Amino acid sequence: MSDSNEYDHLFKIVFIGDVRVGKSNLLSQITYDRFNTEYKSTIGVEFATRILNIDGKRLKAQMWDVAGGERYRAITFAYYRNVAGTILVYDISNYSSYKNIPRWLKEIRNNGNSRNRILLLGNKSDLENQREVSREEAKVFAAENGLDFIETSALDGTGVEAAFQWIMTSSY
Ligand code: GTP
Ligand code: MG
Repeated sequence: MSDSNEYDHLFKIVFIGDVRVGKSNLLSQITYDRFNTEYKSTIGVEFATRILNIDGKRLKAQMWDVAGGERYRAITFAYYRNVAGTILVYDISNYSSYKNIPRWLKEIRNNGNSRNRILLLGNKSDLENQREVSREEAKVFAAENGLDFIETSALDGTGVEAAFQWIMTSSY
């Protein structure tokens, strides 16, 4: 009998980035295949879990959806404690969310541990006609900073499962 609470390894995955970039919707896609058009800002931090089977092992992702709002920045050290992987999110249709990436990266590197894998994720790829951040620019930045890079759409699901699988397999 397999219980949904049974697992071989637990991984803490943190989603971080500016307000409104789509962190909560990425999480709801990963866990329930669901998208919400209406914006409801996260207060503090929310949690979600999902089990993934790799090499006959049950890996449990404990995902932390951290509010992008400035007022929640005070307790950042708690977000990164024992982190296995970080998904650093910006919005491809909002250049300022991309411009803040170095700041987020600094915070991750100051608080995370050396095992922490970081994935740079450009969300809202469905908004191609409102694109402000080119794929090329982000790719170069990622390479220069030793990050992996993917574009996703939490709206239509493109790339979302790939991002989840990447962070889990590379944290394993
Ligand atoms: P905070 O909790 O305030 O930090 O924001 P967040 O990063 O969790 O953003 P959230 O997931 O709440 O999404 C913000 C808004 O963008 C919502 O209105 C979503 O519907 C919309 N949104 C999120 N992802 C996408 C996407 O991939 N494409 C499009 N077109 N809209 C998206
Ligand atoms: Mg949110």
